[in-house]
Amino acid sequence: MPPQPASTQSTRTAPDRERTAERLLASSAKLSFNPLKDVDWDADPVPGAYYCPPRHLSLYGTDLWERMTDEERIELSKHEVASIASVGIWFEEILMQMLLRHAFDRDPTSNHVQYALTEIADECRHSIMFARMIAKMGVPAYGAGFVAHNLGRLFKAISTHSQTFGGTMYVEEILDAFQREVMNDDTLQPLTRQVSRIHVIEEARHISYAREELVRKRLGPVRRRYEQLFIGLIVYYATTALIHPRLYAAVGVDPKTGRAVARANPHWRATKVEMAQKVVSVLDRAGLVGRTNRWLLRAAGVLA
Ligand SMILES: [Fe+2]
Ligand SMILES: [Fe+2]
Repeated sequence: MPPQPASTQSTRTAPDRERTAERLLASSAKLSFNPLKDVDWDADPVPGAYYCPPRHLSLYGTDLWERMTDEERIELSKHEVASIASVGIWFEEILMQMLLRHAFDRDPTSNHVQYALTEIADECRHSIMFARMIAKMGVPAYGAGFVAHNLGRLFKAISTHSQTFGGTMYVEEILDAFQREVMNDDTLQPLTRQVSRIHVIEEARHISYAREELVRKRLGPVRRRYEQLFIGLIVYYATTALIHPRLYAAVGVDPKTGRAVARANPHWRATKVEMAQKVVSVLDRAGLVGRTNRWLLRAAGVLA
């Protein structure tokens, strides 16, 4: 649908949309964070502690894993967390632009647009927080890889409503599932636990905003297939980008070998299925999983 002038859009703002945004704005006013102050950036890492649960590492349970020392396993956890965080930044930068496009054509006095702007501000702080965490760990910001990075360049400029909110929900939900475990596990590094906690709390609001937007859109059968295909591509590229193969070199594993071993690793596949389970069923209920994209979800390793 072509963009409508703000005056026309304002009269169409549904009451339930406004109620949701009003609730989310009130919740943001009550509990939001400033990661520059709310994370203890000066603390040293705890010796012997993992950065995320080892069972969620891409090489966990493989022969390669069995041959690694404890130090190498912890080092791998640091690099994998950093890789996931850098993919988080990649997607948050995409999301900030998509939300700005969403706000651009709508009435700025509505709660709905004001919440979109609040979410952009949250994401901006999150990206700084993730960047700072990666720098503090002393590891590279691996990024999403050349293809996903450049597809993101296009996607953030042309995504439709269903792709914006479907893609957002997907990435936010898989990160949420991962980070909930990290924040609740007191054997892990305090730094990743603090960062995860802030992200989980603020993302809960983003997820409900995206979920409600997603189901508001009614799709005809042809349009549905088109949206499914794009959602499938987002799922595929966002999931396969999570672990950059270059990081395996940090623990003495050849990147190509590491990638192949991870790809064939049933534990890693089970982790991905587990992380994506909830969001895939939400996308399914919204009509965004079907014949057109099931093969992409399987290729991404998030559908058993
Ligand atoms: Fe975020
Ligand atoms: Fe978010």
